[in-house]
This record gives sequence, C-alpha cells and structure tokens, in this order.
Amino acid sequence: MALIALLPGDGIGPEVITQARRVLDALDLDLTYEEAPVGGVAYHSVGHPLPEATLDVARRADALLFGAVGDPTCDSLERALRPEQAILGLRKHLSLFSNLRPATLFEGLEDASALKPDVARQIDLVIVRELNGDVYFGEKGRRTTAAGHREGYDIMSYDETEVRRIARVGFETARKRRGQLCSVDKANVLETSQLWRDVVIEVAADYPDVTLTHMYVDNAAMQLVRNPGQFDVIVTGNLFGDILSDQASMCAGSIGMLPSASLDDAGKGLYEPIHGSAPDIAGQGKANPCAAILSAAMMLRHSLGNGAAADRIEAAVAQAIRNGARTADLGGTMSTSAMGDAVLAVL
Ligand code: NAI
Ligand code: MG
Repeated sequence: MALIALLPGDGIGPEVITQARRVLDALDLDLTYEEAPVGGVAYHSVGHPLPEATLDVARRADALLFGAVGDPTCDSLERALRPEQAILGLRKHLSLFSNLRPATLFEGLEDASALKPDVARQIDLVIVRELNGDVYFGEKGRRTTAAGHREGYDIMSYDETEVRRIARVGFETARKRRGQLCSVDKANVLETSQLWRDVVIEVAADYPDVTLTHMYVDNAAMQLVRNPGQFDVIVTGNLFGDILSDQASMCAGSIGMLPSASLDDAGKGLYEPIHGSAPDIAGQGKANPCAAILSAAMMLRHSLGNGAAADRIEAAVAQAIRNGARTADLGGTMSTSAMGDAVLAVL
C-alpha cells in the first residue's frame, strides 16, 4: 500500500486538494494518506513553514500531493520563515530536481485561451524545468555599494552535473513524445547559459533520435504566444521555466488547468498545480480544482505505476470540460466543489 503525504498548504491549496482527494477516493486505489501542515499554516501553528515533522512524513511517503503555499500575513517575515520556503525546502531536501509541466488545450477551452482558437488548439508541449539550482538557490543578500547605495544580489549559477541530469530528463521526455527538444537559455548574455548550452549539446550525443534546437528565452516567450505548436519539449532552467510555464498556462486556458510533477532520480515525486495560493480568491469556493486533480493523475502515473488510473482521471476532466463544466477562470460560474462533482460524475 502506497503512502501519500498530503500537504494542502495555504489559500486555495486546501480547497483544490480536497477535490483531488475526492477523485482519488472514487477510484478505490490502495493508498493511505498522512496529512501535514506546510507554508503559512505551519508557520502560524508551529513557527516554521516546513516543520521537521512534515519533512519526516515527506521523506517516508512514496509520493507527495501538494496544494500551494503563500500567505500575505507572512509578507513581513524574514525570508527563511516565509511560506514559500516550504516548497523550495521540499524540492531541495528531497532532491526533486526535475519539474515536468505539460500544457495542452482541453477541447472546448479555446474561448478561455489567451490565443486565437486555431493557434491555441496546437498547444501540446511539456516544459522540463530544473528545480534545484539557478538564481533561486544561489547566494543572495544585501550590501552597500561604494557610493553608499543599497544593493540586492542573487547569484545565478549552474554546475555541469545539474545541467546534465536535467538535460537527460529533457531528452528522455522528448524521446517518448515527438522527438523534439528545444533548450531555452540566454546564452547570448549569460555565462551560466553558455555552460548550459555546451552541456546540453554534449548530452545530445547520447540521443541521436531526438532533434535538439536552442532558443533564447525572450524569443521563446514570444514564440509560445505566436506559434506554440512548434514546441514538443522545452528544457530550461529554474527561473526561465517558472516564467514560461505560467505563460504557457494562459495559452492553454487558465493557470487553474496546469498540473506538475517534481521528481528525483528514483521516481519519488511531489505533485502540485502550477498555481500559487491565490489569496485574492481564497475561501470563496472559486478556485479551479482541475490542476490539482490532474496533478493527482500525474502522481499515479509517475510515482505509483498506475498509468491506467491516471488516464481515467485525465479523460474524466476532459469529458467534464467538454460537457461544459467551467469555473470562473474558464468563463463559467461553477464553484470548486461543483467542478469536482462534474469530474466525479464522469468517473
Ligand atoms: P497565484 O498563482 O496564486 O495567482 C495568480 C492569479 O491566478 C490570481 O489572480 C489567482 O486568483 C489566479 N489563480 C491561481 N490559481 C487559480 C485557480 N486554481 N483557479 C482560478 N484562479 C486561479 O500567484 P500569485 O498571486 O503570484 O501568488 C500568490 C501566493 O502564492 C504568493 O504568496 C506566492 O509566493 C505563492 N506561490 C506559491 C506557489 C507554490 O506553492 N508552488 C507557486 C506560485 C506562487
Ligand atoms: Mg510560478
């Protein structure tokens, strides 16, 4: 029996995870759950966003289902105590270095996409984002310049082993899809990116069946909107991947539709919607639970070896959308739980 660490977190996190759990329960799988606090909720109850007890559950679990963290009442805390440190800490402590973010347009969501319908229909891509390095984890701080001005800094760096292992995930992902990998960097300006590009080219030698291209991140942002159909798999660093995947979500209809998997190299994973805690709509029953439900499907496929159950969930979400189920972000009026009901009704 597999153990799932259930980490709902803050804001809309618990609202969408409740619906994901209902869907999992409906499938009658052999799963047990241990729920633990993360983020602002954990800070307010035990004084730390990632308590040792939560980390312990996370380490013991076969997979983690995560909602979101982020709490405006914590904005003035020192960085180490901010809710967002919980997700950064989990990624780092568990070596979850590879973040898979698939983006496709569900049939019927053309009108919700920010793109023209014909362009939107072409989206079928996966962003493979590196999660353990880059400017997010480099040395950071404040200092005073020679002129006496305040200065903030964050060091961006990648070592070749970090690039190599995420490049491999990119190539492996592309190999199982349409065989096209686009590596996104800023090699015209950044030394980090030049190393990135060198290493990706070295790894390409092991994947003659995959076509590798390179693109600067600014162009990639533009191309995602102009012609997303040109992309199969994008592999990129932590910062660029963060930004491009939020952008890709609007191409696919809503940030409330995109799931993600964050994996180590042994198949353990943390599964979460790509969105945050959405304090602007938290507690109002407005959040779209589809990204969380689809994250549960990814969990079944990638960590629990149950692709058939994952397929069933994904098909049920697609059918519910086809039937007209829409939360507000998709232009509809359904509540979070009504959207969950619509998926369950199909299941
Ligand atoms: P956000 O993703 O929480 O919200 C951005 C916008 O999208 C908001 O208008 C929100 O209402 C909407 N939205 C997000 N998810 C939705 C859903 N499921 N259904 C309908 N609408 C949805 O990003 P924001 O506002 O920049 O950040 C809020 C907090 O979340 C911050 O504290 C941030 O640090 C945190 N955050 C946490 C993440 C995580 O836990 N992995 C990821 C991103 C942000
Ligand atoms: Mg983000």
